[in-house]
Amino acid sequence: MFTILSLLFFLAAPTAAYVVNNGTTCYLYPESLTHSGQPVDDTPSVLQAFELCGINGTIIFTKNTFNMFQIMNTTNLLNCNVEIQGELLYSTNIPYWLSHSINVGLQNQSTAWLFGGTNITIAGGGTINGNGQVWYTQNRNNANQPRRPITITFFNSTNLFVDSIRFIQPQFWASFISYSRNVTMTNILVNATSNDEWNVVNTDGTNTWNSADVFIANWTVQNGDDCVAAKGNTTNLHVKNVTCLEGNGMTVGSVGQYPLTPDYDEDILFEDVVVRRGINAGYIKTWQGVPQDNSGNGDAGGGGSGLVRNVTFRNFEIEDVGLPIQLSQCIYSETGADICDTSKMRVEDVVWENVRGTSRYNIAASIFCTSNAPCPGIFFRDVNITSVNATLGLPLWDTNLQDEVFQCANIKNEADSGIPCNRRAPDNFGQVVRENVKDEPRVGPSLMMKSEGENLIDQRALYSVGSWIMELILRS
Ligand SMILES: *[C@@H]1O[C@H](CO)[C@@H](O)[C@H](O)[C@H]1NC(C)=O
Ligand SMILES: *[C@@H]1O[C@H](CO)[C@@H](O)[C@H](O)[C@H]1NC(C)=O
Ligand SMILES: *[C@@H]1O[C@H](CO)[C@@H](O)[C@H](O)[C@H]1NC(C)=O
Ligand SMILES: *[C@@H]1O[C@H](CO)[C@@H](O)[C@H](O)[C@H]1NC(C)=O
Ligand SMILES: *[C@@H]1O[C@H](CO)[C@@H](O)[C@H](O)[C@H]1NC(C)=O
Ligand SMILES: *[C@@H]1O[C@H](CO)[C@@H](O)[C@H](O)[C@H]1NC(C)=O
Ligand SMILES: *[C@@H]1O[C@H](CO)[C@@H](O)[C@H](O)[C@H]1NC(C)=O
Ligand SMILES: *[C@@H]1O[C@H](CO)[C@@H](O)[C@H](O)[C@H]1NC(C)=O
Ligand SMILES: *[C@@H]1O[C@H](CO)[C@@H](O)[C@H](O)[C@H]1NC(C)=O
Ligand SMILES: *[C@@H]1O[C@H](CO)[C@@H](O)[C@H](O)[C@H]1NC(C)=O
Ligand SMILES: *[C@@H]1O[C@H](CO)[C@@H](O)[C@H](O)[C@H]1NC(C)=O
Ligand SMILES: *[C@@H]1O[C@H](CO)[C@@H](O)[C@H](O)[C@H]1NC(C)=O
Repeated sequence: MFTILSLLFFLAAPTAAYVVNNGTTCYLYPESLTHSGQPVDDTPSVLQAFELCGINGTIIFTKNTFNMFQIMNTTNLLNCNVEIQGELLYSTNIPYWLSHSINVGLQNQSTAWLFGGTNITIAGGGTINGNGQVWYTQNRNNANQPRRPITITFFNSTNLFVDSIRFIQPQFWASFISYSRNVTMTNILVNATSNDEWNVVNTDGTNTWNSADVFIANWTVQNGDDCVAAKGNTTNLHVKNVTCLEGNGMTVGSVGQYPLTPDYDEDILFEDVVVRRGINAGYIKTWQGVPQDNSGNGDAGGGGSGLVRNVTFRNFEIEDVGLPIQLSQCIYSETGADICDTSKMRVEDVVWENVRGTSRYNIAASIFCTSNAPCPGIFFRDVNITSVNATLGLPLWDTNLQDEVFQCANIKNEADSGIPCNRRAPDNFGQVVRENVKDEPRVGPSLMMKSEGENLIDQRALYSVGSWIMELILRS
């Protein structure tokens, strides 16, 4: 009986049946097709396909759902086209991923799939589904949970072209571009939404690190964190035509986290960007100059040096954004100690140009540079931001400041910057604003909102337009 069943099983599911290979092309079919639709781990077949066709070949994920139960390392590919027609669906076995995800070398981040090679295309209109709801729920709004996996990390890749892929419910960041050069990612959807009270913290669209010549275009990102972020050693990043819904918009940083590895972020252009209901729109965030434990961030940081130079935020259309423009040099101070005006990161030549639309509160911009290294070359050109209330002819509440606030500190060229500075920027102004700025700082930290770790801020904004009341509880 047992033998017959085994034989039947064997006939129905012969070894490698799910990689159909003619030498150069590997077609992948999921195990579930021969297991009465039951989800069976497809990662062994996928790894086999990359073994067979990862060099001078084509790998086709047919229009089916593939169950991804294990980490994958498919690096050192060469001249390979990957076509994703169907869906890759990650398992929800949280203990497995927390103990197996692959360290990526930045902060305490790790990944479910390490991918890399030379002359690689990934296309096909398919979906990579991180099954992220379980991650959002168990994470309970914490920031940078150690070993919560990045969906896919493009590592050590040269001439990588990723087109028409949907990243649905990423477990953590949807993608990460690390130690790579000449990477293009176009026509991408990233969508992380939560169906319970816990937020989609750290669901960044992508981050770049130690990478050069990266082109990102035609993205729509709905998430709860950075849309696209340039981490340390990003050079020549060009981001064009991206719509960011609800997250943090376009980011340079965080940089300056580690004293032993300086960060150089240069020649970065974000253009034709739409941000709706975002926390920020175009911002630069550096750590303070004094290292500090930051347990809320799952990590420590500060004291890193380096340079952020030649960054342009151009043609931004914003709608209902909390703090549209920010340059902060103390973004993750959590102790409250007076160490915010200490950053060793230099910031220079940054332009915000043609940024239009509405801020959620009465603040458009906060630009703080450290007093020991005032920033040269900071410019606003055609920046026109008005609070939502003002555009509706309504008063702003709980404040005596009805005009838009532009906070500035230590801008070397302030006089010719084009920034209508009308308030001094506090050194510890956090990235999340949850109320209108008032004329006189009240006792306590409520005006100068402190961040509590990378993307670890409770935001409870009660914001009313007429009878419309919206409560946002964001932690990003
Ligand atoms: C394998 O199949 C692909 C796609 O159908 C085709 O382009 C290729 O020529 C085939 N190669 C061989 C060696 O048959
Ligand atoms: C891959 O193709 C290149 C050039 O077409 C060739 O030089 C190389 O030997 C091929 N490698 C393999 C493993 O087939
Ligand atoms: C990934 O696989 C490559 C071999 O292709 C190996 O050299 C490398 O050490 C592996 N990386 C990790 C993190 O396992
Ligand atoms: C990658 O593609 C480029 C451009 O087609 C080609 O010049 C180069 O030789 C390829 N690299 C390898 C390692 O095959
Ligand atoms: C990076 O890729 C190159 C091929 O382009 C390879 O020779 C090298 O071993 C890879 N490095 C790592 C760490 O995987
Ligand atoms: C950069 O990558 C693209 C594919 O996205 C490729 O067509 C182009 O040849 C590469 N550029 C260089 C200089 O190799
Ligand atoms: C993201 O997914 C949610 C839930 O399915 C959906 O309501 C929303 O429209 C999607 N957003 C985008 C930009 O596709
Ligand atoms: C962006 O999308 C438009 C409209 O679909 C298309 O014409 C254009 O080629 C796309 N750009 C890129 C870089 O893929
Ligand atoms: C911008 O990207 C969107 C997809 O996110 C696309 O529909 C649109 O056509 C693109 N616009 C241009 C001008 O390329
Ligand atoms: C950035 O590159 C420099 C060399 O240019 C290196 O010293 C530094 O360690 C790198 N930083 C990171 C964060 O890898
Ligand atoms: C600034 O960066 C842009 C790319 O965004 C580049 O074209 C330009 O040459 C750079 N300018 C300087 C002065 O480095
Ligand atoms: C700024 O935008 C508002 C609408 O939001 C408009 O009424 C006003 O004319 C604009 N100002 C300038 C100088 O363009």
